[in-house]
Amino acid sequence: MTPEELEDEGARPAPPSYPAITRAERAHGRRLAAIHDMYRAELDGVQRLLVHVRAAQADPSLVAPAVAGTALARNMAQFGTACGRDCALLQNHHDIEEQWMFPALAERGGSALAPVIRRLKAEHEVIHRLIGALHEAAQALVADRGPAALDLCTERFAALDRAIRSHFGYEERALEEPLGALRVPI
Ligand SMILES: [Fe+2]
Ligand SMILES: [Fe+2]
Repeated sequence: MTPEELEDEGARPAPPSYPAITRAERAHGRRLAAIHDMYRAELDGVQRLLVHVRAAQADPSLVAPAVAGTALARNMAQFGTACGRDCALLQNHHDIEEQWMFPALAERGGSALAPVIRRLKAEHEVIHRLIGALHEAAQALVADRGPAALDLCTERFAALDRAIRSHFGYEERALEEPLGALRVPI
């Protein structure tokens, strides 16, 4: 699967419906979206940091001349570190889903839910590759603080940000009812 294919809404299987789901079960299922909100806020933070670094790079007069070079380099390194931290956080979120949530859903959801789990796992694989690529670029940026390293990190961050938001959206929509109705711990 490519990152473009990951975003193909039409190729994403729909979950079975659970007509007897209670309000409390649905509220439980919505907790996944609340967890995703934390990660979305993290990504927003890295994006804001990037805007700041870009502005200082485009107009160094924004920063006092004596410290311009150092401040910019420091900001770049900070952006690289933030990207690296996000990589670790997202990887950890997916590891937890794959170790605990998906097996429980697969066991309790039967063949009706299987195509959704299969699709979500395939999307995780694409995202793991994007995380690896960003992590590498982030390490290079922290070490070298050059404009080319910043460009690469920016590009890879944008690709991961796009894929992960698309994945989160599908996952929380598709799993809200199953997580609740099947009482899978989140
Ligand atoms: Fe996921
Ligand atoms: Fe998730």
